[in-house]
Amino acid sequence: MPDKPAIAVVGAGLMGAGIALVFAAAGHRVALFDAMTEARAMALPRIRENLKAIGLDPATASAVTLHSELATAVTDADFVIEAAPEDLPLKQALFVEIENAAKPTAILASNTSVIPITSIMERLRNKARALGTHWWNPPYLVPLVEVIRTIDTSDATVEATLKLLASVGKAAVEVKKDVPGFIGNRLQHALWREAVALVADGVCDAKTVDDVVKASFGTRLAVLGPLENADLVGTDLTRSIHNYVLPALDRSTAASPYLDRLVEEGRLGFKSGEGFHKWTPEQQVVLRERITNHLRASFGAPVARE
Ligand SMILES: NC(=O)c1ccc[n+]([C@@H]2O[C@H](COP(=O)([O-])OP(=O)(O)OC[C@H]3O[C@@H](n4cnc5c(N)ncnc54)[C@H](O)[C@@H]3O)[C@@H](O)[C@H]2O)c1
Repeated sequence: MPDKPAIAVVGAGLMGAGIALVFAAAGHRVALFDAMTEARAMALPRIRENLKAIGLDPATASAVTLHSELATAVTDADFVIEAAPEDLPLKQALFVEIENAAKPTAILASNTSVIPITSIMERLRNKARALGTHWWNPPYLVPLVEVIRTIDTSDATVEATLKLLASVGKAAVEVKKDVPGFIGNRLQHALWREAVALVADGVCDAKTVDDVVKASFGTRLAVLGPLENADLVGTDLTRSIHNYVLPALDRSTAASPYLDRLVEEGRLGFKSGEGFHKWTPEQQVVLRERITNHLRASFGAPVARE
């Protein structure tokens, strides 16, 4: 891998444009491909707007070249990240095309949220250079990238990926097994399952669930991981708490019927103006600003600089 690897990003939507921004801001050349004309038209203005919003020079976007052909986007790349829609057959087909057009030494990564990397890379000839890089939204503000290896991924691929991501200011961690949800989404959705169950069982309303999290362990989470917390209170106390409380927690293996009902009633959250809570357009703007301001205040410089 060269000192400043050339990057290709496949899919110029929310995540792809954000990932392109991170590499461009760190001085990499980025080739950005999208199959849709409209997405290509929106990509650079979106990157410039986001650069400005996080206090970086919008001119940095000039490091990103837009492509309407996948092959020309990936042909010179040392590292290819796919951020196309969450659709397994589509991703499998894209990786076949990527492998045919990319250099044999290029590392190939998928930004899937939950699809097993092993399935996405199933049709590749050389699976040793393929892995998952799961970024979080917005990619230029949230530090974490989970690097997921399959049983075929080589150590050299994992090491080069961790090094590259660290060099652009990301907190890159290795996920040693290709398990659904990787690490972050498993933890997150274990909490969400219980949150929905508390409301469905009439223990409290949705606002109370959110208030409890935000006013209690949520305030500590950014500085105190759950296992640090377990050590802090003692593993003996943690064991005792688990033996009392775990039998009472929700163990459903499918989405809650409560969630089914919300979806059936068209209560889809922001997009319909109501989900667990009611959302006016103004309240949606306020919430989005609250998140951005919090992330900027927490993590300071959003991306590595030259
Ligand atoms: N949104 C999130 O918070 C988030 C977080 C982590 C991972 N992801 C994952 O990242 C990926 C992209 O998600 P997103 O939120 O950016 O979606 P998005 O819909 O904003 O972007 C997807 C882009 O892919 C383009 N596209 C469609 N068909 C294509 C093709 N054949 N080739 C190339 N591009 C094509 C679309 O035009 C669109 O611009 C998904 O796998 C998603 O699960 C999303």
